[in-house]
Amino acid sequence: MGKKLCVIGASGKLGRHLVRHALDRGYEVVGVCREKSVPKLAEFEGRITVIPGPTDDRAVIAKAVNGCDAVLTVLVPWGRSHLATGTAQAVLDHARPGARLIFSCGWHITRDGKDVYPWTFKAYAAVFGRLAKLIRLVDVDDQVEACRRVFASDTRWTVVRGSDLEDGESQGLPVWRGHVGDPALASNRTRRVDYALFMVEAVEDDTLVHEAPAIVGRLTPSALAHAGRQA
Ligand SMILES: NC(=O)c1ccc[n+]([C@@H]2O[C@H](COP(=O)([O-])OP(=O)(O)OC[C@H]3O[C@@H](n4cnc5c(N)ncnc54)[C@H](OP(=O)(O)O)[C@@H]3O)[C@@H](O)[C@H]2O)c1
Repeated sequence: MGKKLCVIGASGKLGRHLVRHALDRGYEVVGVCREKSVPKLAEFEGRITVIPGPTDDRAVIAKAVNGCDAVLTVLVPWGRSHLATGTAQAVLDHARPGARLIFSCGWHITRDGKDVYPWTFKAYAAVFGRLAKLIRLVDVDDQVEACRRVFASDTRWTVVRGSDLEDGESQGLPVWRGHVGDPALASNRTRRVDYALFMVEAVEDDTLVHEAPAIVGRLTPSALAHAGRQA
């Protein structure tokens, strides 16, 4: 029997790429998204099972991840209701023991405090983070807490830390490093389609279990200049 995979946040840009890659690889796919976003999954009609509902609704997640070998979660810190933390916790609690759990987030998440951020990144994150919190749009701390719980869990997790994203044709599997600050990552740019590719490939890559890879597009200048030297 084929493997079953769940995409939490399937209707977003990253989520739809995840669904496409998963279908291409022959997985049976279950997708979770907000009720109002179900039409965004129309291109997959008849090929995936859609469970509509808030991604931090524990009953919705329990139903969606039931029997899944892998769960890919798009962690987003929208609003002020701890959406990312609630989503991550529901996945951690309800995925079957031993399932591969892959989460998305940004470079700003650090697992061990050894990431070295360019001043431009820190300045942008500080200004954007405060402003977004002020207008109650996004709560970056929520994604930090969500990832803290993932790192502390005894599940088979991988947290894929995305650089700045752009749309466009695939350039292939991104290059990754263990810490931001590695010169290979300096270009800070990845295609969304390839971010999704990395997450789906991670399902079968046990070397990424308990890793928090920071990724960059494989054709970016920094990746090309430092190709082959894994940190
Ligand atoms: N954007 C970047 O440059 C960037 C950089 C680094 C890392 N990342 C990471 O990449 C992942 C995808 O980010 P993305 O920016 O590319 O977005 P995206 O793929 O378009 O996904 C956005 C997600 O947020 C949901 N969403 C939007 N507004 C919401 C609301 N008010 N309440 C609840 N859910 C809401 C969307 O659901 P609906 O379809 O229902 O609207 C969708 O699932 C995230 O984990 C992010 O941290 C992004």
